[in-house]
Amino acid sequence: MTDFHTHILPGIDDGSQNVETSVQMLAFAKKQGIDTIVATPHFNIEYESIEHFEHKRARAAEALKTAVKGTELEKIKLLLGAEVALTPGLSRKESFNRLCMEGTNCILLELPMNDWTSWVYNEVYAAMAMSYIPILAHIERYTAIKANIKKINIFEEMDLCFQINSGSFFQFKYKKIINRFIKNRKTIVLGSDTHNMTTRKNDMGNAVSRIEKKYGKHIAEKFEKNAKMLIDGSFGT
Ligand SMILES: [Fe+2]
Repeated sequence: MTDFHTHILPGIDDGSQNVETSVQMLAFAKKQGIDTIVATPHFNIEYESIEHFEHKRARAAEALKTAVKGTELEKIKLLLGAEVALTPGLSRKESFNRLCMEGTNCILLELPMNDWTSWVYNEVYAAMAMSYIPILAHIERYTAIKANIKKINIFEEMDLCFQINSGSFFQFKYKKIINRFIKNRKTIVLGSDTHNMTTRKNDMGNAVSRIEKKYGKHIAEKFEKNAKMLIDGSFGT
């Protein structure tokens, strides 16, 4: 099972605050059947350079890898990525490609919560036009959609990849939008968006059981297949 969205790296953002917590998070993920984790710390180009972020991320990943060396947890595939805040002009920045998930041209984008005006659509479109694969992070959570469901139409028409948080499958307020994506056969990948071992624990295992029960095993399998194809580069080919 692949977890496409996590804040598992230690001391880099508002996720895991230390190596011990990251090791616990890794162990908890393994228990649920996760074998591939994409580490997606927050990144915002308005506050930090890409070079600085990469340096910080590499150091955090190294600390975690060292801590699990020689244990069963070492077998979990850890890919480096980022949850990139969409800002005006982002796609035109030099080194934009370095924000992609390791070994791929996929980029996990966090949209503004509410301000979905033309620049948001243009920016996502520009990334696509440059042959990147934008994946919209936790698409069900934005207040822009809550206020006006039509705001999602353009993204649906663009046939983008959408990431849904596993925890959202347990919340009534997201039922309508999730059902809509599944009904419209949109490309979905799952992510836990786990931040810690207390308030935002990984619940991918439970979510997949729920998805299988509610929508059918084939839907859960499709989500996983999408994740695998995005990682190995065969998506869309
Ligand atoms: Fe996140």
